[in-house]
Order: sequence, then structure tokens, then C-alpha cells
Amino acid sequence: MRVLVTQEDLERRVGELAAEIDRDYKDSDRLLCVGVLKGSVFFMVDLLKKLTVPLAIDFFQTSSYGASTTPGEVRIRKDVDLPVRGKDVLLIEDIVDTGHTLNTILGLLRFRGARSVRLCALLDKKEAREVEIQIDYRGFEIENLFVVGYGLDFDEHYRNLPYIAVLDGADTAAGVPSPS
Ligand code: IMP
Ligand code: MG
Repeated sequence: MRVLVTQEDLERRVGELAAEIDRDYKDSDRLLCVGVLKGSVFFMVDLLKKLTVPLAIDFFQTSSYGASTTPGEVRIRKDVDLPVRGKDVLLIEDIVDTGHTLNTILGLLRFRGARSVRLCALLDKKEAREVEIQIDYRGFEIENLFVVGYGLDFDEHYRNLPYIAVLDGADTAAGVPSPS
């Protein structure tokens, strides 16, 4: 395992993103921050603790990565509880890979009548993109490698690492690491 983004770099960048978001939403009294479970949790908590604007939080959970769904087919396993209509929604995600998950969720939020919808993603695996996604607040662009830590898992392991690491022998083309 090789460290790709250190704890210090994460802290610094999360602080910068929070400052930007705080500035952009200073006049909004209806910010709804929606995290995508489970990967975004560590990032979301650190980010939101640094915001001073009033906000509510909620969560989506989608079908897990590498599930036996056809490419682009995204299942919503847990929907948000709060109404979205009229809200300024900030969707918070750990990583944008093919973009199918976010494409589905962003479309759903708009369909439900959010006043605005923006995306904040910690990591951007740009090379892996299959559908175009606008990332309004982006932490880091990374290579097309399978990464773990700071919320991201391999088979539910490594989420609690305080940094982002690359798993050796990861087969990114298949979307999941080879078991080596
Ligand atoms: P997408 O729909 O292909 O963009 O995939 C999004 C989801 O796949 C992310 O929210 C992650 O949960 C998962 N994912 C994609 N790449 C990685 C990775 O390198 N490590 C761990 N999870 C990943
Ligand atoms: Mg995720």
C-alpha cells in the first residue's frame, strides 16, 4: 500500500474547500448537504465542521461498487429523508469514477425541484469517466488507480485510514482490485 494523499494534504484541502463553500452559500438559508453513504462520511464530517453557514444534512446510499448491475445502472438503496424542493443542495461524494452514480443522483435531485444542485467531490478519477459530470468543488484529481482510506473501502476494509492510499495490484479496468 502506497500513500497517495497524506493526512496533512487532506486537512489543508478540506479547509480550502470549506472556505470556498462558506463564501458561496453565505446568503443561503436553505443549504442541504447530502452525503453518499458510506464513502463520503469521513470527508463530509471534516468539511461540515468547518462551515459556518446554516445547513441541514441528509444521506443517499446507492448500490455498492462492483455489484452485478449492468454498467450505468444505479440502485438507490436509501433515499434522502428531507424534502429537496426549493433547497440549495450540495451533494458530497468521496470519488467520481465513471460518473454513473452521480449522474443518477444529480438528475434525481433536480427532478425533485431543488433550487440549486452542486457537487463537492474529494477525488476525481477523470480518466475513468463515462458520463460527463460537473464537479463544482473538487479536492484532488488522481490517476485511474483503486484507492482506499478516508472513507473509501476495498470490500469494507480500510475506511478508517486517515490518508488516501493506493492498493497494490489493483485492477482498475475491472473496477475492483484483483485479490493479490
Ligand atoms: P461511479 O459511479 O463509477 O462514479 O462510482 C462511484 C462510486 O464507486 C464511488 O462513490 C465509490 O464508492 C466507488 N469507487 C470508485 N472508485 C473507487 C476507488 O478507487 N476506491 C474505492 N471506491 C471507489
Ligand atoms: Mg461512494
